[in-house]
Amino acid sequence: MKPLYSSLLVLMALLLDSMCGPVAAQGLRPQVELPDEPVRGAIFRNCSACHGIDPYAYFALDRQGWRELIDQLHQDDNSVHLNGSDETALLDFLSEQFGADSIAFPRVYEAPTVTETFTDVEARVFMDGVCTECHELRVFKQRNTPAKWRDLMLDMRGNGAVLSDVEMEKLVEWLGRVRGVEATR
Ligand code: HEC
Ligand code: HEC
Repeated sequence: MKPLYSSLLVLMALLLDSMCGPVAAQGLRPQVELPDEPVRGAIFRNCSACHGIDPYAYFALDRQGWRELIDQLHQDDNSVHLNGSDETALLDFLSEQFGADSIAFPRVYEAPTVTETFTDVEARVFMDGVCTECHELRVFKQRNTPAKWRDLMLDMRGNGAVLSDVEMEKLVEWLGRVRGVEATR
């Protein structure tokens, strides 16, 4: 093979790879809002001395799972001793907001490649179903690159929005196209 031809092939392979390969969102961290009383107090009294509450979003567990995780993580220094009412409040909160049916915030997120795309109507119906549980559709107030939209949607999952990786990528594709920085409508 001629050198020029083969280096062109390599270049093409690299380009294709960067277009189709999994997109890893980096430097992304969950942000968990401090809950109201009585959970807030339980957290201040028992947890805040050592670390923040954001990492809670890395887990999706039922009540029993949360109880075991907290025991396990802190058994070395035997530092966490919850009294009855603090434990109840905290486990209620954790198993409600980060329960077994929620989606854990990924430590490293690799976007799946999606082949189907949303039409405008499908995107609208999807968002009406998933997003309006918490707020009106804020996506029409801003324009972002696909990467920024992905970060935002991962952030929404941290807030408790329930959407699978594939659903999220379909939405990110649509948002990047229709609410992208260069879109004209
Ligand atoms: C005395 C310090 C201390 C206190 C108090 C404490 N933690 Fe921790 N926690 C740690 C340390 C150290 C780790 C890391 C342990 C490991 O990774 O093995 C940790 C890890 C965690 C993690 C996992 C974080 C991750 O990124 O995987 C969670 C969730 C957690 N703690 C929840 C709690 C909760 C809920 C409370 C209050 C009930 C609490 N912690 C109180 C020291 C503390
Ligand atoms: C479980 C509740 C919940 C769901 C469901 C939810 N969000 Fe949000 N959203 C929030 C909260 C809380 C904020 C404000 C804090 C923040 O930015 O994380 C927010 C803020 C936003 C913002 C503004 C953020 C900024 O910094 O500009 C956008 C855009 C947004 N949401 C889009 C969406 C979309 C799209 C969906 C559906 C796929 C969705 N949200 C689903 C809770 C939710």
